[in-house]
Amino acid sequence: MADDPSKTAAKGFLGRLPPLPRNALNNSVIGMEQAYRQRKGLPLLTDADIAALKAGEPMPWERGDGAPSPSNGDTATPAPTAATPQATAPTPPPAAPAAVAVPSAPKAGISPEVEKMLAAGKKWSKSAIAAEQARRQRKGLTPFNDAEVTALLGEEASAPAAAPPPAASTPAAGTTRPAAPAVATAAAATMTAGRGTEANKYVGTPAVGTSKAAAAAGVASIGPRDTATDQQRRRLVWSAVAAFLGAWFIAFFRFFLPRTLFEPNTVFKIGYPSEYGLGVDTKWQQKYRIWVDRTPDRLFVIYARCTHLGCTPDWKASENKFKCPCHGSGYDSEGVNFEGPAPRPMDRAHIEQGPDGQIIVDVSRLYQWPKGQPSHFNDPGSFLTGV
Ligand code: FES
Repeated sequence: MADDPSKTAAKGFLGRLPPLPRNALNNSVIGMEQAYRQRKGLPLLTDADIAALKAGEPMPWERGDGAPSPSNGDTATPAPTAATPQATAPTPPPAAPAAVAVPSAPKAGISPEVEKMLAAGKKWSKSAIAAEQARRQRKGLTPFNDAEVTALLGEEASAPAAAPPPAASTPAAGTTRPAAPAVATAAAATMTAGRGTEANKYVGTPAVGTSKAAAAAGVASIGPRDTATDQQRRRLVWSAVAAFLGAWFIAFFRFFLPRTLFEPNTVFKIGYPSEYGLGVDTKWQQKYRIWVDRTPDRLFVIYARCTHLGCTPDWKASENKFKCPCHGSGYDSEGVNFEGPAPRPMDRAHIEQGPDGQIIVDVSRLYQWPKGQPSHFNDPGSFLTGV
């Protein structure tokens, strides 16, 4: 337990620190000790104690050459420093004019610790200050106020716009604190009022989302606001990304599918012969690209393809002929060419009657009449008779 008397030295509080002789302690060990003391309400380590612990040396009170470790304001009073006159001592008369004495006095709203930091000459960035603020919050230390932050950043403190308060209301009765300039007093009052408020939680532009320390200090909340417009933009971008990836995914799998042409069957039934009268019947032109032609002695099927360059001719019933729209070839009602560039009559498809009496057509077997050669239009299978 923290209250173990065996661990409490005569002039200071050892806590859970190792007794002498001990090695130098790192920041982590010292931080844990400070946190432990704060949880238990015990005196915190002073800067001198911490410096000694880091150096591996006895703390001042262990050496017996210093005052007892201060107790976080509860059990001991820090020794007066040169910058802070004793409470009971009269205000020494300034040895120099006021304009010269002011720089040597503590700056308004700036703690001695920060004064030391400033004297060390270290360059502080905004993110470093944010991290330090977070560390202080974790350790239960007083965070930097606005004046300290401004001083660490090396910026000039801006004087408050409001008029300085009356001199009588600033110092308490009996206080021997050196009289500060009116502007500095007002600034200190402003800083004190702002301590712990929203004003000194904001430190420049923190590295939001990149620092645990910054997040712990609450500075993450001052990052860019997540507005509805931002959310809409994000949704739009993600939708585009998903669509792009989806298209690639489909293309990838399409690569493995066979590239097959699905063509209609070349053998099909077109009904019974009794359904066709004399002349040309065009009802299968769109579906099978054929015409059924009946003459007084036979029934045959013309394959509807111009023998010039392959266009599909039109049946002109009023003229009793086929006319190719491409180059004007003309065919009579039996598909025999008589005008235009067509070199020969249109082909005829294989035709037969099925067991059920229906006409079966096979357009993969064509009968031709090549120019200057014998005709195949009378071959068996190129027509039906007696039907
Ligand atoms: Fe029919 Fe040329 S394609 S006339």
